[in-house]
Amino acid sequence: MSPRVVLVGPMGAGKTTVAGLLGAAWGVPVRDTDADIEAGTGREISDIFVESGEDHFRELEAAAVSAAIAEHDGVLALGGGAVLRPETRELLTDQTVVFLRVGLSDAVKRVGLGVGRPLLLGNVRSRIKALLDERTPVYESVATHVVETDDRTPDEVAAEIRELL
Ligand code: S3P
Repeated sequence: MSPRVVLVGPMGAGKTTVAGLLGAAWGVPVRDTDADIEAGTGREISDIFVESGEDHFRELEAAAVSAAIAEHDGVLALGGGAVLRPETRELLTDQTVVFLRVGLSDAVKRVGLGVGRPLLLGNVRSRIKALLDERTPVYESVATHVVETDDRTPDEVAAEIRELL
């Protein structure tokens, strides 16, 4: 069993929203690794970062991605940093992976003040810029498809993915 599609991309790309739309359109279940981690630990992502550190969160995330890829056959949305670990990227090599690309301005608008996103504490715009610069080549390296999300609604993005796949 493996996911019909795995959505990757930065915070503010719309992964969770687009995953919900695809799941509804295809009539398949949707899974989200952030939600899996929160359900599995009974803790919020922000609390895990602050109390236990990012490295611990990444361990939990790698395990959540691995379990979801093995068990899930619907739409899977990964947290924005899930592709940072080489062993996680390795799990994606034989999957259909859509990178939801987003530019700085749209990402900043969509995350708002960054509430609930510990990596954005401080200056949201400069933090998002640093993350986009660092991670865009990584998302491109794992993606089988790239879909632009700037100036587009989640419905338009989901429709393009349905045409592609
Ligand atoms: C993170 C993205 C978040 C969440 C955590 C870390 C990241 O998920 O996993 O705050 O490193 O980019 P979303 O991309 O769903 O916001």
